[in-house]
Amino acid sequence: MSDIGDLRIRPNEARGAPAAEDSPPQERKLFVQSFGCQMNVYDSQKMTDLLGREGYGAAAGPEDADLIILNTCHIRERASEKIFSELGRLRELKALRAVEGRKTKIVVAGCVAQAEGAEIHRRQSAVDVVVGPQSYHRLPELLRRAEREKHVVDTDFPVEDKFGFLARPTPAETRKRGVSAFVTVQEGCDKFCTFCVVPYTRGAEFSRPVAAILEEAAALTAAGVRELTLIGQNVNAYHGADGRGGEADLAALCAELARASGVKRIRYTTSHPNDMGEALIEAHRAQPKLMPFLHLPVQSGSDAVLAAMNRKHTSAGYIALCRRIRAARPDIALSSDFIVGFPGETDADFEATLQLIEDVGYASAFSFKYSPRPGTPGAERTDQIAEDVKSERLARLQALIESQRQAFNRAMVGRTVEVLIERRGRHPGQIAGKSPYLQAVQLEGGDELIGESVAVEIVATGPNSLFGKLASETTARPPAAAEQSARGLV
Ligand code: SAH
Ligand code: SF4
Ligand code: F3S
Repeated sequence: MSDIGDLRIRPNEARGAPAAEDSPPQERKLFVQSFGCQMNVYDSQKMTDLLGREGYGAAAGPEDADLIILNTCHIRERASEKIFSELGRLRELKALRAVEGRKTKIVVAGCVAQAEGAEIHRRQSAVDVVVGPQSYHRLPELLRRAEREKHVVDTDFPVEDKFGFLARPTPAETRKRGVSAFVTVQEGCDKFCTFCVVPYTRGAEFSRPVAAILEEAAALTAAGVRELTLIGQNVNAYHGADGRGGEADLAALCAELARASGVKRIRYTTSHPNDMGEALIEAHRAQPKLMPFLHLPVQSGSDAVLAAMNRKHTSAGYIALCRRIRAARPDIALSSDFIVGFPGETDADFEATLQLIEDVGYASAFSFKYSPRPGTPGAERTDQIAEDVKSERLARLQALIESQRQAFNRAMVGRTVEVLIERRGRHPGQIAGKSPYLQAVQLEGGDELIGESVAVEIVATGPNSLFGKLASETTARPPAAAEQSARGLV
């Protein structure tokens, strides 16, 4: 996989605005573009819902929009700088629309907003509102203020729970989520890895109460959602109030959610190795609705680099953890994040990372060149690694991951797996969904299967998806442990 500027989600996947039904009369149009991680995708949906209730309908594109929101990511320099070039384009668009007598408001939300605050107005005065990830529930009020004031900034970490302010979505809003939806269950991070801005942009760790999550999940499943992906910067550190005076961990939350018959699949992301407790590992053994795919970022295979990153785990500890997880769920597919070229990383450190990848065996992974971020300890170090060394290491690491990914996908051919059908495929008569191992699967089939879990025999693999046909048998067979080709020695 490539060193993508914005994480995992392409902006298009998060674009959208409320459907016409159940909404007030729509005079104004909204365009939201989401960068970065799944948390931002979820927040973009929430902002869209919120503004739908204020009368904003869907704009086809930014040219058509009275209100444009960029929901931004600060994780790497490239992700952050991209926002300013995008804002340059939007400034021209705003001026053009003004000539035509149309007003445009530009909002910068998300992690760049949090990190840069009023500095954004200084760099780009066409921006009307800057709002951080913990205060976007105040957007309607901030937009009203922007009618009177030139530059509005809200980067507070308000004490009120923003989720409490985001009213339960209407059926029309929930229907737009499709078959698979994200639910934020945890936010923020207290771990302070020395490369990372998240603790500064998202604030301290916070878990939503179980009851609020169950309520949101019930609304989603009533609207046809079948797969829930629980999201959080440290989702497996989840410890939400259980309503009985105690706290529920992520395993307990999954068990509660699995009780609902409408929920067919549960996933969660992103996990920290140190929070992967026994109860959660056991849930992978015992809970059939918990999908056998785990994103478990390790970042590096060198103990010296891991210590410098403040990860508080070793390479051997991580490998032992993978072994315990695989003992509980032998067919589990693992993925990870890697950073190459952290300050001080030697050739031997990098070789240790390649060795860890060989040892674990991944189904996929994201990998990045270290990007020094202002305000983080890593950026202060004087032993930064040269760009060409980072590029060369990244290419080698990505080639290894890609070969593991392809081997993992190839090993699916001939197997029958349960596929949750999510949507129509690329061509008429085709449908598409996901395997338990998070692989995209395309097959021939009718629209009536959308939302259903069907047994699919995998017949071929392409660069980015698997191809299958509806299996005559009704039950899918998980691969035996020995068949798991992406497994390394672990
Ligand atoms: N909470 C998640 C990470 C969120 S950020 C976790 O702990 O796994 C997603 C990924 O971006 C990280 O796992 C890391 O690999 C990468 N990343 C974060 N900061 C970075 C930086 N300064 N340079 C390069 N990659 C970075
Ligand atoms: Fe960033 Fe580390 Fe927290 Fe993940 S655990 S969000 S990498 S500080
Ligand atoms: Fe980016 Fe913020 Fe997510 S920095 S990765 S959008 S938490």
